[in-house]
Amino acid sequence: MRIVTTLAELRELEPPRRGDAPGRRAVVMTMGALHAGHLALVRTARVSADQVVVSVFVNPLQFNDAGDLASYPRTLEADAALLESAGVDVLFAPEASAMYPHGDPTVTVSAGAIGEVLEGAHRPGHFDGVLTVVLKLMHLVRPDVAFFGQKDAQQLIAIRAMVRDLDLPVQIQAVPTVRDTDGLALSSRNVHLSTEERERALSLSRALNAARQAAEAGASVVDTLAAGRAVLAHAADVVVDYLAALDPSDAHPVAGDHRGDVVIAVAATVGATRLIDNVVTRIR
Ligand code: PAJ
Repeated sequence: MRIVTTLAELRELEPPRRGDAPGRRAVVMTMGALHAGHLALVRTARVSADQVVVSVFVNPLQFNDAGDLASYPRTLEADAALLESAGVDVLFAPEASAMYPHGDPTVTVSAGAIGEVLEGAHRPGHFDGVLTVVLKLMHLVRPDVAFFGQKDAQQLIAIRAMVRDLDLPVQIQAVPTVRDTDGLALSSRNVHLSTEERERALSLSRALNAARQAAEAGASVVDTLAAGRAVLAHAADVVVDYLAALDPSDAHPVAGDHRGDVVIAVAATVGATRLIDNVVTRIR
């Protein structure tokens, strides 16, 4: 595995090859502190492309809380070892000064209305920061295909919208959420949870499961959300930000009489840690 830290080195990457023919390049973008969720993206990329590039970059533009940025876990050495054994070809791990040599960019991408609801309402500017770095990494890496986790449903929706609206020549592939055996969605932020907080955090996936079961049994949007909220109502010391049913195309909350595919998304704070999770289901 080659480790690359400058933009110049990245521009000079060998083109991917499949035998004597041109091959496919995949990218998996991450902020490091890698866990089995990230590695699922890498494995999916490995089987579908000839060259796999993984980026590890804690993007300051998408943090609106300096404390959150400072405390974000950074484990580059361990990350590099995991990526090497997963058969990654290139690890791109730039410093912020390499990515943004002129300081914060003047020109950025706007997530528009997608950036203003749910996670966007809680974290103003967050999705603009995500899309700006994702677009920049797309230009630098020039992948044929890019892999993103369903875990960050609104991020995935925003990225798909950017690719569609700005005609980026890249295929976006979603990878299902990887969970611990008890149901907790893997997240780099889980390291901040104490044993007792981790137990409380299970109410998120339990609420989503209850909502999905209700939807599968034929419940309306309103009743599906009520089933999820009933679980959260019993969860002590879990401060719920939202439990909502979103339109998978624009991340906007759907009407109570909506039928069709929905993302049931939840965000809550447990102790000092904010967690998000979601399931994809169908309202009949
Ligand atoms: P990060 O949180 O490191 O996540 C990197 C990728 O891994 C994202 O596509 C995310 O959805 C996926 N991922 C995280 N946890 C997962 C899980 N439990 N199961 C499946 N996939 C999971 O998302 C970001 O970084 C950043 O916003 C980024 C896109 C890299 C831009 O800075």
